[in-house]
Amino acid sequence: MAKKTILRALAGEVLPTPPIWMMRQAGRYLPEYRATRAQAGDFLKLCYNPELAAEVTLQPIRRYGFDAAILFADILLLPQALGADLWFETGEGPRLSTITDMAGVKALRPRAEIHETLNPIYETVRILRRELPAETTLIGFAGAPWTVATYMVAGRGTPDQAPAHKLKDTDRAAFVALIDVLTEATIDYLAAQVEAGAEVVKIFDSWAGSLKGADFTDFALAPAKRITEALKARYPDLPVIAFPREAGQGYIGFAKATGADCVALDNSVTPEWAAEHVQVDGCVQGNLASSHMVSGGQALIDETRRVVKAFSKGPHIFNLGHGITPDADPDNVLRMIEAVRGG
Ligand code: CP3
Repeated sequence: MAKKTILRALAGEVLPTPPIWMMRQAGRYLPEYRATRAQAGDFLKLCYNPELAAEVTLQPIRRYGFDAAILFADILLLPQALGADLWFETGEGPRLSTITDMAGVKALRPRAEIHETLNPIYETVRILRRELPAETTLIGFAGAPWTVATYMVAGRGTPDQAPAHKLKDTDRAAFVALIDVLTEATIDYLAAQVEAGAEVVKIFDSWAGSLKGADFTDFALAPAKRITEALKARYPDLPVIAFPREAGQGYIGFAKATGADCVALDNSVTPEWAAEHVQVDGCVQGNLASSHMVSGGQALIDETRRVVKAFSKGPHIFNLGHGITPDADPDNVLRMIEAVRGG
């Protein structure tokens, strides 16, 4: 069988129609997702139930025929596996026990023990590899160390990541130790996903944009490089997608510097700029604003075509610039796919 389209784009091939998938494609905008989540009880129970997690991963593939499925899980399962308490406040988001000093870092469970918690996730991956259509690529993922650390330090999402910045600036040793623990555990977690059947891995650094100057190099770029190099040493053919969200100028050269095969772009950069400055180095993924999935109309069609056209001269995987939101209209997703595939 011919190689899957996503893998061809990741290998640098320029395809006449870009392959497409969507961040958070299994999510609350879909009635079938909401039904399965209700069946599971809550979001975390859904993540740790391999049959139901596989089911919600498959739902958008059945409905839309995306070229890739992303494992249904969350970036905060790894801190939980390392010993943090984790829960979700309805309507608000994640809450975790906090880490504020070296004693907190030292109290984390040894990374060899994370699999006890994460085994159901690997089982989800195994089910998906059996059940996905032959042409659909399975993407595994983890949060990048900086982004995961921002939640572990603050105990929740924060608009400016101030608590993590404060730890970085006032207790450097503890902060660096935390980033190191997360980097090593992320390598183990992603390797286990690959062993279970993930064909590509994506590293989500949602808060990379708040790291400036040397901090960006040390805490966004360097950990992504360490993770990518360690995985490629074990799996030389494994494609890696890096997502240093809102990196701006930091997107330039990020793939080369880290060894990633593809850089995912948010929509704070224009596709024309990114084609010129980022796609020159290889495959890019992105970057339609997810707000179009809510507002629809002619602007959705025009902007979809604009993204496709801007990236048409190089390897490209079509995606949104960030996750689709719960208020999105499922029909707008169809219109986007038609505009990508039908021209
Ligand atoms: O993309 C996918 O469909 C795969 C599954 C996936 C989820 N979260 C499911 C999820 C992935 C790849 C993530 C990544 C993730 N999780 C990130 C990085 C990407 C990003 O969005 O910036 C972050 C920062 C998290 C942490 C997280 N998880 C937050 C802040 C929240 C609450 C906000 C929200 O959207 O509700 C979650 C919950 C979450 N993770 C949901 C889903 C489908 C919603 C949970 C629900 O059903 O109520």
